[in-house]
Amino acid sequence: MSDSLRQRLRALPDFPAVLPGFDPATAPADPIDLFLEWLDQALAAGVPGPNAFSLATATATGEVSSRMLILKNVDDGAWHFASTRGSRKGRELSANPIAAMNFYWAPLGRQVRVVGRVALLSAAASAVDWDERPGADGRANPDWQLYALRPTEVEFWQASPDRQHIRHRYAA
Ligand SMILES: Cc1cc2nc3c(=O)[nH]c(=O)nc-3n(C[C@H](O)[C@H](O)[C@H](O)COP(=O)(O)O)c2cc1C
Repeated sequence: MSDSLRQRLRALPDFPAVLPGFDPATAPADPIDLFLEWLDQALAAGVPGPNAFSLATATATGEVSSRMLILKNVDDGAWHFASTRGSRKGRELSANPIAAMNFYWAPLGRQVRVVGRVALLSAAASAVDWDERPGADGRANPDWQLYALRPTEVEFWQASPDRQHIRHRYAA
């Protein structure tokens, strides 16, 4: 059973055969410009859920957890997301405000890691985000929180058909 699972996994392609090129030498100086370029290209390519990313958080003692979230904005040098403060991630972020985001645009073989400190945005901005959610019914949710991750590190990764995968890292 596990042997056939191993073989089935082995038979799967890691990446599509046709991939975009990426030359770090021509990359913009600001990682936000490159992120927005890649996000636009993911949208243009019809990548499913291009605004979804995994968020890894950790307790004060380093027990890690991750989950998928939706990107709300990139503004003023920070990546925005929203959740409830009382959730596991909310509790972990209040104890340890360092987090890592990971975007993966599979049809393009592209991954972006964004790591940094997370701050709380205002109650007013959080309320607007809550009200604009699909299915919002006008009722307030005081536990809803908009967060802003300001990166100390952003790494862009492009798969290559020759397996000479390309990495481009920005550090603050
Ligand atoms: C694609 C996708 C997007 C999601 N977006 C959000 C989101 O923006 N905010 C949120 O609180 N939960 C979102 N969720 C649910 C979270 O993954 C998670 O289950 C929930 O927030 C509880 O996480 P926690 O217990 O680790 O805090 C999303 C799930 C998926 C699969």
